Amino acid sequence: MACCFFIYLPGLMIVSIVFILKKIWESLSKIPPVPKLENEWWGPGKSGEEDTSIKPFQINISDEVINDLHHRLRNTRPLAPPLEGTKHEYGINSNLTKEITDFWLNKYDIRHREKFLNQYPQFKTKIQGLNIHFLHVKPKETQGVKVLPLLILHGWPGSVREFYEIIPILTTPQKGRNFVFEVIAPSLPGYGFSDPAVRPGLSTPQMAVILKNLMLRLNFDRFYMQAGDWGSVIMSDMSILFPEHVIAVHNNHCVDISPKAILKRILYGFWPSLIVEKKYEHLIYPSKKFFLGILARTGYFHIQATKPDTVGAALGDSPMGLAAYILEKFIDVDGALTKRFEMEALLDNVMIYWINNCMTTAMRLYAERYNTKNIDLGIDKIPVPVPTGCARFHLDIAYFPEALLKDKYPNLIHLTDHEQGHFAALECPKVLATDLYDFTEKVLKL
Ligand SMILES: *[C@@H]1O[C@H](CO)[C@@H](O)[C@H](O)[C@H]1NC(C)=O
Ligand SMILES: *[C@@H]1O[C@H](CO)[C@@H](O)[C@H](O)[C@H]1NC(C)=O
Repeated sequence: MACCFFIYLPGLMIVSIVFILKKIWESLSKIPPVPKLENEWWGPGKSGEEDTSIKPFQINISDEVINDLHHRLRNTRPLAPPLEGTKHEYGINSNLTKEITDFWLNKYDIRHREKFLNQYPQFKTKIQGLNIHFLHVKPKETQGVKVLPLLILHGWPGSVREFYEIIPILTTPQKGRNFVFEVIAPSLPGYGFSDPAVRPGLSTPQMAVILKNLMLRLNFDRFYMQAGDWGSVIMSDMSILFPEHVIAVHNNHCVDISPKAILKRILYGFWPSLIVEKKYEHLIYPSKKFFLGILARTGYFHIQATKPDTVGAALGDSPMGLAAYILEKFIDVDGALTKRFEMEALLDNVMIYWINNCMTTAMRLYAERYNTKNIDLGIDKIPVPVPTGCARFHLDIAYFPEALLKDKYPNLIHLTDHEQGHFAALECPKVLATDLYDFTEKVLKL
């Protein structure tokens, strides 16, 4: 008997391994049911009668806040000089931090910028216990064009400031197009001028509920969406939870972070030509370089997904620290900050975090999204059911070939490549707007 057993052993092992791999693949491929989410109450106290009025809002920074900011910027402690011959390998170069701080104190005209930020109609309305702030910009000219409602979402460490240059392009009829957009750009809950939750659990699917309710309150039953960063996650979640309200989504941060997609990415690494053109192969392979690159750039992610309040204590107290932490994310591959962005625009965004003292509450989104409760919802594994456009910006965090996007975005009707980076609306408003117009034209023809 013994002889035969040893002969059969290798065969048995192969059969077992194949069986186990098949089970793993099946479990990775399983699509969970769409979760049902309630209109939870996130504000102080208990849910009750809600004031549903929509109130006009203007940014109004008090002299006290400005004096305090200037006092802090004048009294920063000396930074450790950068190591010789380094750029930003150790974090933002402290020479640059000094430059930013000097600009903020001496050249950044707060009252002038306040006027700039107030150029679009802004409102606040209370949803599920939270005051939600949003820009609402209607096209001035609508003759002969169809007006399409567009909900546009920012992420971290961004704000509605990212959209100030793209809004006029989206709300002005473009040559050769028979439609234009009416733009609604909210500050995410816990970000900018929107209230933060007072209790745990406000993650992206829950934000999707709030922002869907915002659109319903504004009488938009069906609308288009555009987003990047966290906004794109909220957008995907919203289209999964409420496909009856979301007509189509244009995403400049298409990702699939399900375990299956990660496994696929690694497996295709043995035959990259199967999924990616030779000229773009360097964007994702070799896998080791890709994953080490991600690891090197995402330390902040781990901190914010675990202990946001700790680092938040420092960032809420030091404008210099806050600016360094935020603007490091805007530095491009060559180590430049102001080649792609205006310093004033960058500081507008930092100001929105500073005056609202909202860095801690904004960072908590990472912790809410990456706890077991939310991962168990399984929403990352559910495909986006509505027509999708992916504008891939090559300097964004991670490049995804079409084969790796199809599981998450089976209705991908538009896929483009651009050379710019993560903050596309701010960096290249014209490019992003044109891409969105092109995508929408395809949707209208469906
Ligand atoms: C801003 O606040 C100040 C002081 O509270 C007030 O006098 C001023 O009218 C406000 N300005 C706007 C534009 O609301
Ligand atoms: C930082 O600035 C100082 C003073 O201008 C300069 O001498 C030094 O080379 C800079 N160091 C780095 C690493 O940029």
